[in-house]
Amino acid sequence: MASIRLEHLTKRFGNVVAVDDLNLEIADGEFVALLGPSGCGKTTTLLMIAGIYEPTEGKIYFDDVCVNDVAPKDRYVGLVFQSYALYPHMSVFDNIAFPLRLNKTPRAEIERRVREVAKLAQIENLLDRRPAQLSGGQQQRVALCRALVKEPEVLLLDEPLSNLDARLRIETRAEIKRLQKELGITTILVTHDQIEALSMADRVAVMHQGVLQQYTTPEELYNRPANLFVASFIGDPPMNLFEVRYRRGGELELPGGRALRLPEPLARRLEARRLEEGATLTLGLRPEDVELSETETPEGFPAEVYLAETLGGDLLVHFRLGDGGDGPRLRALTDPERRVTMGQRLWLVPDPNKLHLFGPDGRSLLAEAEEEAPVPHPQRA
Ligand SMILES: Nc1ncnc2c1ncn2[C@@H]1O[C@H](COP(=O)(O)OP(=O)(O)OP(=O)(O)O)[C@@H](O)[C@H]1O
Ligand SMILES: [Mg+2]
Repeated sequence: MASIRLEHLTKRFGNVVAVDDLNLEIADGEFVALLGPSGCGKTTTLLMIAGIYEPTEGKIYFDDVCVNDVAPKDRYVGLVFQSYALYPHMSVFDNIAFPLRLNKTPRAEIERRVREVAKLAQIENLLDRRPAQLSGGQQQRVALCRALVKEPEVLLLDEPLSNLDARLRIETRAEIKRLQKELGITTILVTHDQIEALSMADRVAVMHQGVLQQYTTPEELYNRPANLFVASFIGDPPMNLFEVRYRRGGELELPGGRALRLPEPLARRLEARRLEEGATLTLGLRPEDVELSETETPEGFPAEVYLAETLGGDLLVHFRLGDGGDGPRLRALTDPERRVTMGQRLWLVPDPNKLHLFGPDGRSLLAEAEEEAPVPHPQRA
């Protein structure tokens, strides 16, 4: 097992900065997800850790030893790719045994280790089959076994579940998480699927355009997104974001002119930032943190129902803000038993303790000044 540290890691392909000055620490035995949209630099990061790509700049440490000049095979990493490419003409046993045969492991040792990992992944009864005789999820587990049989110090998984259907994905997700905890093996999972990252990992590193946006636990990521990018990326249905004006003394002017009174601690925190009167901020409200009221309340603001859709156990109501229903759109999750009709006028009451606020540069205003996040849209020369 090993801890991993990335220091100022950068990878350029010609003019493209695929990974930009990445700093990350992964503890021994930790399960970390690299999460971000397509092209944000996840696979490039993983391949640098595996030793397949050479960093343009920066250093990679395993257990405080720099491995920049260590060959891939001497890094003791197990890799599982999205296209797990099993050998079709070989049995499951031989597929798993392949890396051991390559480095001339004794026969009895191969037998023992293949059976051991197959048992862990619950595919012992499939060892004689060919890959074509397996389901996608079973093939995935064979690929995982092939990576684990080398007893690697670090397990690297690149979108390992994306070929599976929804149900199998949930099953295999749980299976991988259980295996990881059982073996205590330091693991990095690359994914663009937030549910996958948030449900499996101990900590999640969100990336955007090669730049690390936030690195923390799933709960923190959800409850305290550090900037507008993370706020809009994490959460489904996504967070409502709209422009408001700051009023000294702890009020926000909403579209349409109504004021939202901020809870005392939040008002004080904003006061400390010395924002200008009338400064434009972005208010974030998760759909699940908005209550609907039939009657006017001082903490609420008026909106008109635009559309309602049933999502499993919830009703997602789309609103347009403002007295005339001509303001920005906003979504709220509510109980499906509630009857709403198109054009209906309701009052939206945000949970004052669940507000998110972002400054003109896109950074969260709720974080302490010393833990400020990167600006979400990096400027590049
Ligand atoms: N070999 C390469 N040559 C040139 N550019 C590359 C190369 N590999 C990756 N890139 C570029 O680097 C950026 C990051 O690519 P990367 O494959 O790391 O993204 P990713 O986050 O894994 O995306 P996805 O979710 O689509 O797999 C992209 O802009 C990509 O086009
Ligand atoms: Mg990728």
